[in-house]
Amino acid sequence: MADWDLLLTDARIATMRADAPDYGVIGESGVGCVAVKDGKIAWIGPKSELPPGNSDTKRSLHGRWITPALIDCHTHLVFGGDRAEEFEQRLRGASYEDIAKAGGGIMSTVRATRDATADELFAAALPRTNALISEGVATIEIKSGYGLDVDNEIKLLEVARRLGEETSATIRTTLLAAHTVPPEFKNDADGYIDLICDKLLPRVCAAKLADAVDAYCESIAFDAEQVGKVFEKACELGLPVKLHADQLSDGGGAALAAKFDALSADHLEYTSANGVAAMAKTNAVAVLLPGAFLTLGETQLPPIDELRKRNVPIAVATDCNPGTSPMCSLRNAMMLASRLFRLTPEECLAGATRVAAQALGLNADRGTLEVGKRADIAIWDVSHPRELAYWTGTPQLAELLSGGHTSRP
Ligand code: NIG
Ligand code: FE
Repeated sequence: MADWDLLLTDARIATMRADAPDYGVIGESGVGCVAVKDGKIAWIGPKSELPPGNSDTKRSLHGRWITPALIDCHTHLVFGGDRAEEFEQRLRGASYEDIAKAGGGIMSTVRATRDATADELFAAALPRTNALISEGVATIEIKSGYGLDVDNEIKLLEVARRLGEETSATIRTTLLAAHTVPPEFKNDADGYIDLICDKLLPRVCAAKLADAVDAYCESIAFDAEQVGKVFEKACELGLPVKLHADQLSDGGGAALAAKFDALSADHLEYTSANGVAAMAKTNAVAVLLPGAFLTLGETQLPPIDELRKRNVPIAVATDCNPGTSPMCSLRNAMMLASRLFRLTPEECLAGATRVAAQALGLNADRGTLEVGKRADIAIWDVSHPRELAYWTGTPQLAELLSGGHTSRP
């Protein structure tokens, strides 16, 4: 006889398994069960097939829908200050690139971030993290990239790790030191790349502060050769890579990400069909960021049909950051992905669960509801999971389980 810690009964289950159609539904009439043991799913299926077992706690969900907990696979949510003033400037006509070239943009956040203590950064990032948790997010990726020197990049990664220790969320950290050229290296971007490769990456790796390495490949940031150097070093140190690719222009970012077998290539508004074809030969995920698309007033859509045609998996994330996506709601990102990019509600939900897990290299452990995976489960007050990309601003989360335990922000 099986021995479980928790048994959930009377659920409608959207497993989001890749190999099952229509949200991977089990028990649509409200007869689904999930057994949890040691924080993982030990059994899942309809009540009629439930094997005999004892469980410490047994709970009826009274026909509620459950899905995998949401995963935000691309954020920059640890930063100092804000850029509301630049937001106003942009609404008056200034472009993101103009502001960046005049020393604002990412650099203005770098100044505010360097000026802030770790405690101040933590205090500012905590409500953003909690906002995500409160709508069903159990796993969050957080990038550095607003420190741009050894000590400040490490400060950001440590704050991100602390958010994982002091909230219920699993935090995955990404070193994005190659975000923009810092003032100390004005006219010497290659010197900064050397600093990243020779000093910062080895230290971050030795202290196990980053789970992945990211870079910004763009005319206002780094070219393919410079990004390649950082990625080579990351690979040498055994860290997976991902890339901010083709956001403002086609810089061959998708193909570059594919060349390094990246976990993901993100943004992709200007990615060509050849770039998509290169990604399709790898396991790279296309992470779409409709918050940045909206905020920057982009009109060039990512190549959605090409991604679908080539079976490149599509994730959706908030890109939470003070410049291009001041947004702490993954539900909002899903809603925008459906409106702006015409993703179906099922693609939006897969993009914020199963595919988001793949973009973090965590797909063996979470992202779908199946035996052996972490019991990260969102319980919803909805009539069908398609509602999750349909409503915005409606608090439909009844409860979030993280590793089988109730999680509260
Ligand atoms: O994902 N593209 C570069 N990085 C961020 C923007 C960061 C910022 O403007 O502060 C992004 O859009
Ligand atoms: Fe980003």
